[in-house]
Amino acid sequence: MRIIALANQKGGSAKTTTTINLGAALALQKRKVLLIDMDPQGHVAEGLGFEAESIEKDISQVLEQKLTLDEIIFPARPHLDLAPANILLSQAEAMLFTKNRREDRLKNAIRRLSNHYDYILIDCPPSLGILTINALSAAHEVLITMAAEYYALLGVGLLLNTIEDFREDLNPDLKILGVLASRVTRTNHARDVLAHVAENLGDRAHLFATQIKEQVILRDAGAHGKHIFEYAPDSDAAASFAALAKELGKTRGR
Ligand SMILES: Nc1ncnc2c1ncn2[C@@H]1O[C@H](COP(=O)(O)OP(=O)(O)OP(=O)(O)O)[C@@H](O)[C@H]1O
Ligand SMILES: [Mg+2]
Repeated sequence: MRIIALANQKGGSAKTTTTINLGAALALQKRKVLLIDMDPQGHVAEGLGFEAESIEKDISQVLEQKLTLDEIIFPARPHLDLAPANILLSQAEAMLFTKNRREDRLKNAIRRLSNHYDYILIDCPPSLGILTINALSAAHEVLITMAAEYYALLGVGLLLNTIEDFREDLNPDLKILGVLASRVTRTNHARDVLAHVAENLGDRAHLFATQIKEQVILRDAGAHGKHIFEYAPDSDAAASFAALAKELGKTRGR
């Protein structure tokens, strides 16, 4: 089992889009996949066509130790299970601030899962607060998604420093799986940013050879509550996520 947190404190860096479509690609390759939403925005459920607001059992109750993960998980698609979040998670986040051992809640919940999964993908919120810390404590590997624009560079550097510190303090086994360039446009700017990232990452982290281009069809798929293999199976975007799943299978964190 590989447990992968998708993280970037910067908003709009394609964490959720990657969680959903990479998860779907792996599930179509007959891997057993669990998606865990750790963002009160509840976009993983929404992106797969479920109304977050009307979900009664969500990850907040697991973090509050009122329900087990088994009790909130439901099958979203074949081979693709979901532990959803909704706005209640922001209350749980506030509550966690007052508790001891608060960073281990998700990790312990995953340990008690009764189902076996090949992959667990954890979608993080755009912050480095206690919810992301729970995800990084639970994960074996962290995948950093990055929108290909200038300010993203600063964010990735900061995030790598944070992960390296975090590793010393909380989860020495956490590996950096790599950086995924997403929302890549056909501009000189994007090309410069990517060249700069490749140069600066050096051997701090793998830069995925697969890139996800900026494609409106990905936004449309999410808005229709479908993953890309349902919404546009023959699209370039679908091919990119299939390639990413393949590359993931050959890549190990370091
Ligand atoms: N490759 C892409 N092409 C076009 N639109 C994209 C692409 N990736 C993501 N988007 C769109 O950009 C917006 C932000 O993406 P997404 O929600 O995946 O980012 P996020 O990092 O999860 O954001 P947040 O930090 O708010 O959780 C969404 O509207 C999404 O549909
Ligand atoms: Mg998101």
